[in-house]
Amino acid sequence: MPDNRVIVTDESTGQSLELPVIKGTEGEPTLQIKALPSTLGYFTYDPGFTATASCTSKITFIDGGKGILRYRGYPIEQLAEHSNFLEVAYLLLEGELPTAAEFEAFDREITYHTMIHEKLRTFISGFHYDAHPMAMMAGVVGSLSAFYHDKMDMDNPKHRRLAAIRMIAKMPTIAAACYRHHMGWPAVYPDNSLSYTENFLNMMFSVPSEKYEVSQVAAKAFDLLFILHADHEQNASTSTVRLVGSTGANPYASVAAGISALWGPAHGGANEAVLTMLAEIGDVSRVGEFIDRAKDKNDPFRLMGFGHRVYKNYDPRATIIRQAAHEVLQEIGSDDPLLSLAMELERIALEDEYFISKKLYPNVDFYSGIIYKALGIPTSMFTVMFAIARTVGWVSQWLEQEDVGTPIGRPRQVYAGAAERDYKQIGSR
Ligand code: CMC
Repeated sequence: MPDNRVIVTDESTGQSLELPVIKGTEGEPTLQIKALPSTLGYFTYDPGFTATASCTSKITFIDGGKGILRYRGYPIEQLAEHSNFLEVAYLLLEGELPTAAEFEAFDREITYHTMIHEKLRTFISGFHYDAHPMAMMAGVVGSLSAFYHDKMDMDNPKHRRLAAIRMIAKMPTIAAACYRHHMGWPAVYPDNSLSYTENFLNMMFSVPSEKYEVSQVAAKAFDLLFILHADHEQNASTSTVRLVGSTGANPYASVAAGISALWGPAHGGANEAVLTMLAEIGDVSRVGEFIDRAKDKNDPFRLMGFGHRVYKNYDPRATIIRQAAHEVLQEIGSDDPLLSLAMELERIALEDEYFISKKLYPNVDFYSGIIYKALGIPTSMFTVMFAIARTVGWVSQWLEQEDVGTPIGRPRQVYAGAAERDYKQIGSR
């Protein structure tokens, strides 16, 4: 039998169906099950989509068993070492690394769109000062469709690309504006003479009363973190963006939904949760106690920053961030005890049979928060940092989907509720 034929037989009827096997460039072969309901009369059941490919994509490849992550074929380690965030953004969007002229044009294009409508600032100032920044981000990004509806014909590829560029360009401006609102600081406008990450840091931290020099250590570290967070194939927030986009909703609404999905502690909210957890552990002497809690089936506590749906090996992004955390702390001369605590937690967990047998390794969020904290980012803004970077992935995946044109995402269910019954008048129930 050729290795690309899978036959499903319903033993109750003897009816068979040959399922075509789809083979990508790399990765596991996938069964095309579309004909199952119409021929054998079955749907498939896969809560959490643990065994389901929802689309064909050319953007990002992950081999979770081997700990491999590649953007458009380029290993994450090479991009982290040699590239920069805007170049990676171009790569994800366009599929190829830019020439020098293409990069210059792209840089100019992003820079051109960094400003936000003044009324957006009024909108931001309507939030209570202690609103969670992710709540503000979801609301403000969703509202962009009300501000930039001039060029929002989703059937027009130029409009689609412009919306994508606008989001990549404006996300740092919005994030910084949300932070400054929380702090009660005056607005700082984008400075187009600065690089993407320098500009973000300047908008976050400069104040009118003092001269602010963007730290090159910080700008470099942010650039690295943004590269590592830029895309991760069909994760929960990206799948959300694609699902919302499949309804024909505008890209701002789709990305706002992605931001909401990212906020959860099982996803991008884990970087904030890691710091909260490390602070709660407080001291190396208490690591064992928390490891025991993580292993206890009756305790809902999980080791934040550990485990991943796809990686059953060390998350390659975590390897890079771990090293960067040491370098950044050394360069800025910080001796954050949380780093030693995190390392001890990692060491003990990696030697523990529970974590070994379940293939639970540190993920990207285990160390990123330590770097953000060292660079002065408040904990509540950590997931916002993730959102700025992931915007590139969201819009690249959204563009890929819209360019191909996909049907509305509409899963089925196994109905387990009451069978048909007759309505009873209220007095006789
Ligand atoms: N601590 C303790 N036990 C864990 C953990 C953890 N962090 N993660 C998974 N397990 C256990 C889990 O209890 C289950 O045990 P059992 O088989 O006995 O029921 C087993 O490992 C498999 O877990 P799962 O929940 O079925 O795995 P999943 O693939 O559905 O979940 C995950 C993946 C990331 C949601 C989960 O590992 C987790 O909650 N981790 C902590 C949160 C976190 O760090 N999230 C960031 C993910 S990376 C950033 C991103 O891409 O968003």
